Amino acid sequence: MTNLPESLAGKTVAVLGGTGPQGRGLARRFAVAGVPVVIGSRSAERAAEAATRLAADLSGEVSGADNAGAAAAGDIVVVAVPWDGHGELLASLRSELAGKVVVDCVNPLGFDKQGAYALAVEEGSAAQQAQSILPDSTVVGAFHNVSAVKLEDPEVETVDTDVLVLGDVREATDLVQDLADVIPGVRGVYGGRLRNAHQVEALTANLISVNRRHKAHAGIRITDI
Ligand SMILES: NC(=O)c1ccc[n+]([C@@H]2O[C@H](COP(=O)([O-])OP(=O)(O)OC[C@H]3O[C@@H](n4cnc5c(N)ncnc54)[C@H](OP(=O)(O)O)[C@@H]3O)[C@@H](O)[C@H]2O)c1
Repeated sequence: MTNLPESLAGKTVAVLGGTGPQGRGLARRFAVAGVPVVIGSRSAERAAEAATRLAADLSGEVSGADNAGAAAAGDIVVVAVPWDGHGELLASLRSELAGKVVVDCVNPLGFDKQGAYALAVEEGSAAQQAQSILPDSTVVGAFHNVSAVKLEDPEVETVDTDVLVLGDVREATDLVQDLADVIPGVRGVYGGRLRNAHQVEALTANLISVNRRHKAHAGIRITDI
């Protein structure tokens, strides 16, 4: 367990869609670092199962709830659902998410025979869509380019990557940089305003191409800072 920064003291992180690989991976890393985690799901039962499995594997505080319960319980709420369900889920949780920092890691991608490609999003990006649906929340984009396989693998002691953190409110991006930093090997790096989230989401398509060529779980590093 790391020493949590002051900014995260007493804060609970909820993960919507926390039963999938990305949500499970982030939940694992946050819980191991000592951050209380609530796994969310469309089914309270699936969430409870995922939380029990995770809790059995580490000494952290993990529980499960349906997405609404998780959203209500979290001070910081990570959105880790597929692009397809993104807008609908967030619209249904407007009141639970009001006043909170919502961390969006959703990559709107399509897949065909040539591999992955970025989808056009009316609002510009998934993160901007989230902010337009949740005017009373502070949306931050982060964790788009970090591999769920690495996050989930307990044998991987350090996840060697930078996490670009995007948003329009400095206090919120600083908080999410601190959250990224609790994962050993990860450095949270401010990556600009929310209007620049599209290319960070889209970059995941390039990383998937790298992964296919090299049979890897590639991440990114920003140099000279
Ligand atoms: N996998 C990665 O390496 C990775 C890396 C970076 C970012 N991401 C992003 O993280 C997000 C989650 O990735 P993932 O691979 O974990 O996805 P996933 O397994 O396909 O979905 C995650 C969870 O979302 C819930 N879900 C599925 N369809 C839904 C819908 N229509 N509405 C609401 N919830 C739904 C499911 O949980 P319940 O059935 O329990 O509700 C599922 O377990 C994606 O947007 C992806 O772009 C993934």
